[in-house]
Amino acid sequence: MSIYSASTTAPVNIATLKYWGKRDKSLNLPTNSSISVTLSQKDLRTLTTAATSETFTEDKLWLNGKLESLESERTKACLADLKKLRKELEDSDASLPKLSTFGLHIVSENNFPTAAGLASSAAGFAALVVAIAKLYKLPQDMSELSKIARKGSGSACRSLFGGYVAWEMGDLTDGEDSKAVEVAPLGHWPGMKAAILVVSDDKKDTPSTSGMQLTVATSDLFQHRIKEVVPARFIEMKKSIAEKDFPLFAELTMKDSNSFHAVCLDSYPPIFYLNDTSKKIIKLVHKLNELEGKIIAAYTFDAGPNAVIYYEEHNESKVLGFLHTVFNKVEGWKGEVKSTDYKFDFDDQLYKGVSKVILTEIGPGPQDTEETLINEQGLPK
Ligand code: DP6
Repeated sequence: MSIYSASTTAPVNIATLKYWGKRDKSLNLPTNSSISVTLSQKDLRTLTTAATSETFTEDKLWLNGKLESLESERTKACLADLKKLRKELEDSDASLPKLSTFGLHIVSENNFPTAAGLASSAAGFAALVVAIAKLYKLPQDMSELSKIARKGSGSACRSLFGGYVAWEMGDLTDGEDSKAVEVAPLGHWPGMKAAILVVSDDKKDTPSTSGMQLTVATSDLFQHRIKEVVPARFIEMKKSIAEKDFPLFAELTMKDSNSFHAVCLDSYPPIFYLNDTSKKIIKLVHKLNELEGKIIAAYTFDAGPNAVIYYEEHNESKVLGFLHTVFNKVEGWKGEVKSTDYKFDFDDQLYKGVSKVILTEIGPGPQDTEETLINEQGLPK
């Protein structure tokens, strides 16, 4: 029996201008455009192998070694779109094997803990779509494929590109213009670094899908955010990237994180993603920028308490040195990081709220790989 297979890796992205709110739930069409930075796959990535064969009777998906149900409407929507595009190819060229009629075996693994709340669904859906597109030899470009990944998880569409990425909200009801585009490639502003502080949290917060539905339905502040704040910020942030203006990029990033968490608080009943540790980290970053007399670091928080702190490489010793002063007892530091001798007051127990430091940087989009997760029988290795 012949098994066709293809593998890819895909990155995590962390938004600097947040997607929060859907105008269409089943197509994952957003109420605003968003911007993100793609992170390096050395530290955070999903590896996915997709295989197909005449002998595979059904579609199957294994995530981190576990067979998952394929009942989710989102995964089904992605597979249906990809099979439809493959069918179009087969209809136009009768010599092609009829892969669109075979079952798919998909095996996917993250190189980081899925539960840590680190945008694993974005990397996961991006890898799934790109691996199958490669298996099917689809001619569609990354922006076209991003529309399929978007149906899996909104933020996943931005993981189809490296560097600085925008998700243009579009205005068509069928979503055909709601896609990811490159704002600037990695090489345009390569010195962007990210320190992730994984904040310990015992309780599970509201999943982003239901959280944003509640915000759209109940928050008045949200209307101001999507009508006035985000459209202007989208233009300004793209400009700050084009001009590599870190202080402006950083200020917009921090304000947008705060605006997103403000509309969460304005939802009814309110949604709280930041905990006390997160809030103290926000204060610390402002303290660092104040001590420096200019903005050299920017925090941003998604639908959970973890902090992502962006900074430029040439300020690394200052930013990491400052964070090291507070969090030196936490695991994850690499290389030589020396605490700085800034004088500032901080809660000397704060480090206990952080379980891990992940030091990473901006990175490229999905990458081809020879590595495969599927054996000759078409099952996970
Ligand atoms: C706060 O993409 O996870 O991280 O489309 O419902 O799957 P669904 O939501 P998801 O939401 C991400 C929200 C965010 C902001 C962002 O990544 O832009």
